[in-house]
Amino acid sequence: MGSQAAGDSREMIDLHSHILPGIDDGAADIAIALEIARHSVEQGISVVACTPHILPGLYHNTGPQIRAATLELQRVIDLEGIPLRLVTGADVHMVPDFVGGLRSGRLLTLADSRYVLVEPPHHTAPPQLEDFFFNLLVAGYVPVLTHPERLSWVSSRYESIEKLVRGGVWMQITAGSFTGAFGRTAQYWACRMLDDGFVHILATDAHDNRRRPPILAAARDIVARRAGAIEAEHMVLTRPRGILENVIPSQLPMPAAAPGEGPPTNHDTDEQSRRRNQSTNGPRDHSARGFFGRLREFFQ
Ligand SMILES: [Fe+2]
Repeated sequence: MGSQAAGDSREMIDLHSHILPGIDDGAADIAIALEIARHSVEQGISVVACTPHILPGLYHNTGPQIRAATLELQRVIDLEGIPLRLVTGADVHMVPDFVGGLRSGRLLTLADSRYVLVEPPHHTAPPQLEDFFFNLLVAGYVPVLTHPERLSWVSSRYESIEKLVRGGVWMQITAGSFTGAFGRTAQYWACRMLDDGFVHILATDAHDNRRRPPILAAARDIVARRAGAIEAEHMVLTRPRGILENVIPSQLPMPAAAPGEGPPTNHDTDEQSRRRNQSTNGPRDHSARGFFGRLREFFQ
């Protein structure tokens, strides 16, 4: 899988990966972790964030443990001569005292930046969903909500997703959702959110090299056809690099809606692609910013 992208020199950064061996449901051992690393490099990925689950009762990972495991895997990757840089992070579930956990170091942001991956429950929308995310924003963090397109409640709570985006919450779509690896429903919502200008970054959420491999280039190319090559690069490089450098969101390009292009499809014409490219080059409507975004920037 992904062989068509082998040798692709366009750089990408993957900010969601369960590559650390033996600490969650991701890579089972060091051999699989190295397979993920090699496959990532083949895709053109230069940096991978190690983001194991932090979920009390199931995955008892903590910041210091993840830092140590990341250093150890980087040591082995270097010994193997694989040109891949690892940074720390976590796939943090909506645990109590989230802000306190970040401040104490028990929970980790991405590369110690202000950006933090947050994974909501898959099958039930939490009652305090919006309050939870806005509390993080007011505390100075930028929550990056993981794979909204795969949540079973996205269709019934899409207005909440929209409100979060307009408030300054970033959305991370799983690359495999665009390629169809997670089924037609996830593919529909990935395309719908892309067209609505609600997608900030793509990431692999890789767990192994077979069932859930680190596929990123194929999704970037699908996004390039729908939303233009520039926007696709923003999702796999510009914004991820901005996160690694802890750039404030207002200094990064925000996704723009692409109105009037019809229902989501993976077969846009060249003309549609060209218009989308123009729209990403022209003035942006800043649809991902709103009152809460400006409020957050004020606090920063
Ligand atoms: Fe994940």
